[in-house]
Amino acid sequence: MNPLNHVAIIMDGNGRWGLKNKSSRNQGHKAGLNTVEKIIKETINQKIKYLTLYAFSTENWKRPKKEINYLFNLLENFLLNRIEDLNKQNIKLNVIGAKNFSKKLNKLLNLSEKKTLKNTTLQINLALNYGSKFEIINALKKMNKNNDKINEMNLSKYLQTKNTPDPEILIRTGNTKRLSNFLLWQLAYAEIFFEKKLWPDFEEKDYIKIIKKFKRIKRNFGNI
Ligand code: FPP
Repeated sequence: MNPLNHVAIIMDGNGRWGLKNKSSRNQGHKAGLNTVEKIIKETINQKIKYLTLYAFSTENWKRPKKEINYLFNLLENFLLNRIEDLNKQNIKLNVIGAKNFSKKLNKLLNLSEKKTLKNTTLQINLALNYGSKFEIINALKKMNKNNDKINEMNLSKYLQTKNTPDPEILIRTGNTKRLSNFLLWQLAYAEIFFEKKLWPDFEEKDYIKIIKKFKRIKRNFGNI
């Protein structure tokens, strides 16, 4: 059985779900947050140590301001209401991406990270204003500045996912088959599962099915 330490998820389909079920894209994001809660719980049940969630990409700034504001309000309220409980559950919150939001949200993100820094049951990497190409370029710039030798190990150390094992599984919901500038370096050997269901419809049983399937895959890493 394959060991499983890290699951990465592109939570796609909120907008379509919202339009179909509530005539509002934003209501889809709200419903998507319920799925986030369910999947966090199941990740802990499955004893998986790292969960990386793509919540906002560098490209998502192209969306209407109303939707962007709604998303960040949702995040703000989530942190305000849930961080104590996440902390009690020994969950560590780590933000990846460029943290250049409102002063209030930046402060809240920093506080949430600081509060949960030493927790060990599950690390959630929340990808916010994240773009993988930007992350890689930045890492290379820093390596160059420090005169570090360019090799795989060094590059991994300069990525925002440093100290995190690479994901063994990538799940993308919403019936779309692309990587959307997400963890391009870290996913080099990941098993990829594209799910037809929209993110708010994704359930624990779908997650468990993927995990079971993954555990049975013969992973060769180039060998035979
Ligand atoms: C992609 O669906 C989803 C997002 C850009 C936002 C993800 C946000 C959440 C799941 C809720 C908030 C999460 C936290 C942690 C507070 P889409 O809007 O691109 O869907 P579409 O493809 O149907 O338009």
